[in-house]
Amino acid sequence: MAPKFTKRELEGHEPTRPGSPGQDVLLIHGPGQQYRLTSQQEIPSLNSPSEILVKVIAIGLNPIDWKGPDFNFGLPSLPWINGRDMAGVVVKAHKRLRRIRVGDVVLSPSTDYRDIRKAAFQEFSISSEHNAARVPRDMPIQSSAVMGVAYVTAAITLGICFGLDFSTIGSYFRAPNLLHLLQEVDPNALATDVRDECLNGIEELDRVKAGDWIAIWGASSATGMIALQLAKLCGLRVIGVADVARHGDKLLQAGADLLVDRHDTDRAVAIIRGVTKGSLRFGLDTVGKDTATRLQECLSTTAEDGRKSHLAGLTGVPKVPTDNVVLHKVPIKTFHDVPQVGECLMVLLEKLLVARKLLPPEVETAMGGLNGINEALDLLRKGTISGKRVVVPLDTSIERATITI
Ligand SMILES: NC(=O)c1ccc[n+]([C@@H]2O[C@H](COP(=O)([O-])OP(=O)(O)OC[C@H]3O[C@@H](n4cnc5c(N)ncnc54)[C@H](OP(=O)(O)O)[C@@H]3O)[C@@H](O)[C@H]2O)c1
Repeated sequence: MAPKFTKRELEGHEPTRPGSPGQDVLLIHGPGQQYRLTSQQEIPSLNSPSEILVKVIAIGLNPIDWKGPDFNFGLPSLPWINGRDMAGVVVKAHKRLRRIRVGDVVLSPSTDYRDIRKAAFQEFSISSEHNAARVPRDMPIQSSAVMGVAYVTAAITLGICFGLDFSTIGSYFRAPNLLHLLQEVDPNALATDVRDECLNGIEELDRVKAGDWIAIWGASSATGMIALQLAKLCGLRVIGVADVARHGDKLLQAGADLLVDRHDTDRAVAIIRGVTKGSLRFGLDTVGKDTATRLQECLSTTAEDGRKSHLAGLTGVPKVPTDNVVLHKVPIKTFHDVPQVGECLMVLLEKLLVARKLLPPEVETAMGGLNGINEALDLLRKGTISGKRVVVPLDTSIERATITI
């Protein structure tokens, strides 16, 4: 049987070639500044047996890569290395690791942005076994590089904030029930700012289940598209709010049950309320505070049967809460802080990708390697890339490769 996952020869990927001058990295020196290519920087070292060193092959760009420097957040000190998504070949790993080996091609979302060793904008980056997924043999590396953060965000929002039990995807997947898993973790392993969300964010009675409606405002975003697919795999009914003319076709293909155009928000609220007739209890907003506020208006507020509604906002929640609507912020750091959470999400991702049950976002390839990232981020900044993820290959052999999935 052909191997399921991609492997690469290490030749040409070793971090410590004789006379090696270190690595190239992209440094940000201050808010509002461009990233600067800097050579001869130290290659990061492994700090624990669960860590792996990855030679980066392709970098996926996220909105935060330009928003952080422009609006001065997510920069723990200066100068700093940014970058949240990448795929590459594992060049160092402890022999005792069970799933990941040297030579595996992996994708790795870097949610632990305070650890500069794990940033993506460098030639070599650190990850952990529980934060890396092997890339299927027939999947382009470019596609794998762009989906990690979006997948983790979508899975944690659905699985922790809304209590979706992924084991309902099907027996083959042995997928996690994240809320039950968290109950078994030492509470001290959970950061204090997310502990309450993880342990008490939603009552057992309230948890989302097959047949329930969920509305995703900003469904065409990478996170929205992945949340839509995960929700459909678990039998939810999904309403997607998006530019329907632009993105309707792909959202229908991903399984959306109802599409609502985003341009007239009053009408969008009226349509969602009309169709769900007061039964909508789950909303995910990927756009911002204003749209999250509109989404809140669509949710049931009666709690007649004792069940509340739940709204998660990726970039902001409504200023004024409504009775019986619980507002959630996504406890994304559980992905790296709690190895059990990271591991089961990465194993599930591998299985979904191998089975082609989860389609990655469409990609647009930007040239120039690390040096091309400033220009590529301008495309995101200006909003000229719509419904696609930008990928920046560092390996010139895949720079111009055709992408098919
Ligand atoms: N809190 C967290 O942990 C976390 C994690 C990941 C991401 N985020 C944040 O979540 C947001 C989404 O991230 P992403 O990477 O998934 O985004 P993305 O892939 O860059 O997508 C942005 C999408 O939003 C759509 N959009 C823009 N304005 C809209 C509106 N008013 N109504 C509906 N859709 C609209 C755009 O479509 P058109 O313009 O073509 O209509 C585009 O498809 C970003 O702000 C990101 O920083 C937060």
